[in-house]
Amino acid sequence: MKSKYYFLSNGIKIPCIGFGTWQITNSEVVFDAVTSALKTGYRHIDTAAIYRNEESIGDAIAASGISRTDVFVTSKVWNKCRGYDMTMQAFERTLSKLKLEYLDLYLIHWPANELQYENWNELNLDTWRALAHLYKNGVVKCIGVSNFKPHHLKSLLDTEIVPMVNQIEYHPGHNNDETVNFCRQNNIRIEAWSPLGSGRVLENELLVRMAEKYNKSTAQICIRWCLQNGVLPLPKSVNKNRIVDNLNVFDFDISDDDMKLIDGMNPCGFSGFDPDNVDF
Ligand code: A2P
Repeated sequence: MKSKYYFLSNGIKIPCIGFGTWQITNSEVVFDAVTSALKTGYRHIDTAAIYRNEESIGDAIAASGISRTDVFVTSKVWNKCRGYDMTMQAFERTLSKLKLEYLDLYLIHWPANELQYENWNELNLDTWRALAHLYKNGVVKCIGVSNFKPHHLKSLLDTEIVPMVNQIEYHPGHNNDETVNFCRQNNIRIEAWSPLGSGRVLENELLVRMAEKYNKSTAQICIRWCLQNGVLPLPKSVNKNRIVDNLNVFDFDISDDDMKLIDGMNPCGFSGFDPDNVDF
């Protein structure tokens, strides 16, 4: 793949690798990691209200001196703020913490599910109505969801504005085929959280063999595999060398046969967070 961007269904260009910031909460560590990522060349930062690091990310973006239009910033509305009014308020808090005038992408972090809510579908639609409003007002350039399965997505597809992105757990050993295929059919770009299985798949025998074959790290194999499947990986690291390595994946191709071998790996590395069964 030569391009370092994807285009979303509304024509907006999105850097095809994002810097993940889940589980980085210490403000100095966040600031340093995002600063390193921006210096390395990442132009896409992924955060969420619940990560509690939006302020430090905003500081790092401001300190970088990079023009606002050259950085793609994503955040997500947390589960306790579902529904139109609460989402609108959550968005204002996020924007102010990030010290930005607009977001590039705003996502519903998790679907309300049947386990917790009788009216889960209406609640998701009401949250979506807020995102659509923000989008139409231009304070968010793209909108989408995270952790939505096809049955959560279906009713959103009948609304005026269809999600442009679905960010899900996706890594070798966890292909999430059903959701990925459904999103492909509906022109919804898949983003991968935990593209390295949060480190849990990096010792996998097949991936280690592939890494040796291509003279790359297993992390780079995971990231490249995402890209060749048209998925947008969001690798996270607080280590400068790894931050560099994780972006250095444009000088090799995994062969079709090897892609199939990775596609067919036995399940491994799953976080255990099934959107239909989480109780948060
Ligand atoms: P660290 O932050 O110390 O580098 P994911 O992106 O799937 O959530 O995975 C993140 C985990 O993988 C973190 O524990 C991170 O640790 C580790 N990690 C990130 N990049 C690499 C890499 N290139 N090689 C090994 N481990 C990595």
